[in-house]
Formats: sequence, structure tokens, C-alpha cells
Amino acid sequence: MALLPILHYPDPRLHTVAKPVAQVNDDIRQLVKDMAETMYDAPGIGLAATQVNVHQQVIVIDLSDERDQLQVFINPEIIWSSEEKKVWQEGCLSVPDFYDEVLRPSEVKVRALNLEGKQFELHADGLMAVCIQHEMDHLKGKVFVEYLSSLKRMRIASKLKKKSKAGVI
Ligand code: NI
Repeated sequence: MALLPILHYPDPRLHTVAKPVAQVNDDIRQLVKDMAETMYDAPGIGLAATQVNVHQQVIVIDLSDERDQLQVFINPEIIWSSEEKKVWQEGCLSVPDFYDEVLRPSEVKVRALNLEGKQFELHADGLMAVCIQHEMDHLKGKVFVEYLSSLKRMRIASKLKKKSKAGVI
């Protein structure tokens, strides 16, 4: 097990588009273990492989209070999304200490592979729907702040750059 370093916005590597996993093998299972450890340590409720500079379509999510309900999505696809949309206050481990509102479909149906390489479908609503869409954006190279105005984005980027230089993050 290993903690993986998390990339911080505006790191250009966050804009890499992840490739589908060709085979769910022990390397992928190890990656999932390391990503889960990294997410729990952060602590966060979701993490996409892109955020740890691995550009394969792998997501881990755990919304439980006890932190014992890990959900793994390999090669996830959204096969249905509701017309109804909802605004949620989102945060991201790659954009520390920043939260803002994003409008997204309130429900989605996702198809993905599990750790055994078996396909499953999940109908998600509430926070799970938000989290899946947020993490899937990471796999496409998109960070949630890109939904915000360019002025806001520039402020966030320059604030985070200053922080990294000072060695805070
Ligand atoms: Ni994120």
C-alpha cells in the first residue's frame, strides 16, 4: 500500500484524458488499493486516477460515514442522465480549500467494470450522482472549477500557485 501524491490545479497533467483499462489485473487492483488509501488519508469522498497522475479510467468513491463502503468504477460510462438538474456545492482534492456551486443532472445511470472485471450498472442520485459525474470529468481532463467563470478560475489558479511556491501544499 502506498499513498500517492495528488496533483493540484492548475497542474496541466490534470487535463490529460484517461485511457480505458484494457484488462482488470493485479496492477489495476493495486492501483485501486493505493487510490483508496490516498482518498481516505486526504480525506476525501472520491478520487479519480487522473488526480494521482495515472491516466487510466479508474475511480474510487466512499460516501459512508464509517469509510468502509468503497465503490470502484473502472471504465465508467454514463448511459442515462436525468433532465432534472441540481446545484451542489462541490470541492475537490485537487483544488484544496475551495468550494463552489456546480449544476449537473440530478440522477445518472452509470455502467462500469468492478475489481473482478465484471460489468455492472448503478442508478445514482443525490451526492453519489454528483460524485460520479465529478470524478468522470477528471478522467476527461476536466476539473470542476472549469464550470465557473474565467475570472473566478484565474483567482483560484493564482492563489494555489502562490501556495505551492510557499510549500504549503
Ligand atoms: Ni475532484
